[in-house]
Amino acid sequence: MESSDERVVAVIMVGGPTKGTRFRPLSLNVPKPLFPLAGQPMIHHPISACRRIPNLAQIYLIGFYEEREFALYVSSISTELRIPVRYLREDKPHGSAGGLYNFRDYIMEDNPSHIFLLNCDVCCSFPLPNMLEAHKSYGGMGTILVIKVSAESASQFGELVADPVTKELLHYTEKPETFVSDLINCGVYIFTPDIFNAIQDAFTQRKDRANLRRITSFEALQSATKALPTDYVKLDQDILSPLAGKKELYTHETLDFWEQIKTPGMSLKCSGLYLSQFRHTSPQLLAGGNGTRSATIIGDVYVHPSAKVHASAKIGPNVSISANARVGAGARLISCIILDDVEIKENAVVIHAIVGWKSSIGKWSRVQARRR
Ligand code: GDD
Repeated sequence: MESSDERVVAVIMVGGPTKGTRFRPLSLNVPKPLFPLAGQPMIHHPISACRRIPNLAQIYLIGFYEEREFALYVSSISTELRIPVRYLREDKPHGSAGGLYNFRDYIMEDNPSHIFLLNCDVCCSFPLPNMLEAHKSYGGMGTILVIKVSAESASQFGELVADPVTKELLHYTEKPETFVSDLINCGVYIFTPDIFNAIQDAFTQRKDRANLRRITSFEALQSATKALPTDYVKLDQDILSPLAGKKELYTHETLDFWEQIKTPGMSLKCSGLYLSQFRHTSPQLLAGGNGTRSATIIGDVYVHPSAKVHASAKIGPNVSISANARVGAGARLISCIILDDVEIKENAVVIHAIVGWKSSIGKWSRVQARRR
């Protein structure tokens, strides 16, 4: 039974400007976590999912972007959700676990019984309340959301082996060179506050190893200088791997959609996944129209209220049109993201593409990317 004074906080790791380089050039204009998918900033999707967590006290975003880059979004989303959302800035990258540890005093302010930890660059249905229930039934320090993927793609992720009955995490390897398992880490976790002790232990071990290297040999000293800083701790390699098989970590498998958003091409796919999810979660965000008073809409389409789309244009499926965009008469848009202030002139066709901020696509032009 859930106790009403049991509080939960959620933390979203947003990284910083030196991360997410595969997302360039899109992340040169806007921090990757704020790039729009289905018309909403990437982090808006996990943040809205957090709303379904019972007894949620606070949402923290941890990153090493300038504070001003998140200030506007953080204040508008806090008002919209009526849940405090706060951006905590690291002075430098501390790794996915080091960043969390760095702000342990803030995170523990609400004395939470559980802490959700989410990567900002994953696209899924975020089954957070189910994870919380599953975690409580397993016990232990943490539960990881996992999914089965094709054996060929598994090596891009953390591969793991779990007990089929108890769901205990038995073995974990981050991006292995040889195949271990087609069950992978989705980058969505729930922990008890004991996670901070585990990270503290990892820090101590790293410092001890660095000290040992310094006093043993010149050769070792050379490798120590190449090693990561002692206050840099990665959740996957430094915490999950060593704790596997110790009855501390468990897994919760999702059978729903899941993707990682590392490249611009993936943002198009994930925009489509979120648009189709809106059918169940936020149908009011999807456009409608049959070409009489407004454009013909096919499938799942988002149009920002300030965008102007001519009634003779045909839009969709999987199209997202951002603020102040203008789409002219007879234009045809299929599977694309149209960013702010874009102009698509009469009879232009855009298929499977992202049209960058303030661009103009001329009359009768055709922009079509090859589908991979
Ligand atoms: N604040 C902060 N500080 N965030 C960070 C830092 C840091 O120093 N380093 C990474 N992050 C954030 C990233 O923005 C991302 O949201 C998350 O932490 C994980 O990033 P990486 O550590 O670079 O790992 P990855 O994305 O290559 O792989 C991880 O996620 C996969 C799922 O998407 C691993 O956990 C894989 O096992 C997992 O499959």
